[in-house]
Amino acid sequence: MRTMAAKSASRMRRWMLGVLLRLPGGGSDPASLLARFPDEALMPLRRTGLDPVPALGAMRDKDPVSRLKMPLGLRGWLVTGYGESRAVLAADHDTFSNDFGNMIGKVGIAAEQDPGGLGFADPPAHTRLRHMLTAHFTTRALATWAPRVEQIVDEALDEMARLGAEGAPVDLQKHFAVPIPSRLIMELLGIEVDDHTEFLRLSTERFDFAGGATTSLNVIQESIDYLEAIVARQRIEPGPGLIGSILSEYGDHVSDIELAGLADGVLVGGLETTVSMLALGAVCLLQDRAAFDALLEADAVGVDRLVEEMLRYLTVVQVGFPRFAVRDVTLGGHEIFAGDVVVCSLSAANRDPRHDTNLDRVDHTRTPPGHLAFGHGIHRCVGAELGRMELRLAYPALVRRFPQLRLAVAPAELTYRETSVVYGLTGLPVLL
Ligand code: HEM
Repeated sequence: MRTMAAKSASRMRRWMLGVLLRLPGGGSDPASLLARFPDEALMPLRRTGLDPVPALGAMRDKDPVSRLKMPLGLRGWLVTGYGESRAVLAADHDTFSNDFGNMIGKVGIAAEQDPGGLGFADPPAHTRLRHMLTAHFTTRALATWAPRVEQIVDEALDEMARLGAEGAPVDLQKHFAVPIPSRLIMELLGIEVDDHTEFLRLSTERFDFAGGATTSLNVIQESIDYLEAIVARQRIEPGPGLIGSILSEYGDHVSDIELAGLADGVLVGGLETTVSMLALGAVCLLQDRAAFDALLEADAVGVDRLVEEMLRYLTVVQVGFPRFAVRDVTLGGHEIFAGDVVVCSLSAANRDPRHDTNLDRVDHTRTPPGHLAFGHGIHRCVGAELGRMELRLAYPALVRRFPQLRLAVAPAELTYRETSVVYGLTGLPVLL
């Protein structure tokens, strides 16, 4: 039997996903809240093609901090400048808070709709939860995973080779970009071998809206239930991964639902982002043969440089978590009042000409200046080093295995997700 707390936490997550991914909703569906958001509020999420978001660039040139049209009762700001975004992300939580509690009572949002999780929490709750994860994501802790990542990459490439052996197009997203992070995260969390197929289905289907919003929401519900059951099992017999070791270390201080939520955060945070980076990065390489060829010969420094530049250029997490002004503050010459909602467009910030001058293409010959693709400050991506490791191993392996790799359709025929926090493709047909 699911407890009241567990049920309410699941409802929260369903609602949050509705908000973030703009699901069509109606009636009492939590996604119906979206209807209250004006179209302009979703503008920073629209990207079709590898184009560097001209509308956002134009806004930033006019003013790097501009008003964002929000539902009645909310005053919103869109930050498109690099320095201004960095200042918001670095601010303490007494200036800009992540706590979703700031939204409660506004535009009809009720307390039970608080999504919780790391991204919507302030210290000390945030510090306590984040501390449970950080030790597992340091460069040192992750080094032991490198051989396994190489193996997973090779298995994905073998499968692509098998599917494309007769010259048929292969979906690189489905057979390369999805299996690498999903298998890795599954093992990192410590999901038993018998559960592999089921976990893979749950982790990929959650972002597939082909069956409509309800199907996706049901999959998320299923995923949380699934993780919670694993936590409960591992509480009795801790497994070898992250879930087991957090239980061993913090057992009495973390509830099943809290840990299932943390594990789900690792899953949501680490899966779709890395899938998008792998697939969109491949598109960049296939459209820029010089970069492709350079990668064939690149040493570790060259690979790192390309990966950093790709992270900056693509900025797949298009906007950071919303921040709520706690006190009146001046930003970019504007008076931000306590209660205002501030959204940082990481895609626009990472292409700010005041910070960077190579804006119109991936420049694989240079190390880009510091970028905000992983955010900044206390909410900076906890899995940044894991994401980097996957990209550093996967891109070179792909070009080395298939040096003749090319798109199976014209670039203009590739289809992109229309409105999603995480910028990405719907598929990537290639010829080997
Ligand atoms: C290349 C891939 C990735 C990108 C581009 C990315 C990007 C980001 C960004 C921009 C944020 C911060 C948002 C903000 O402060 O507003 C973030 C937070 C987060 N990411 Fe990632 N991420 C990636 C991979 C991963 C991986 C592999 C994991 C886990 C294994 C992960 C887990 C998380 C978590 C848990 C947070 C919330 C941290 C907090 O609020 O303290 N991410 N990510």
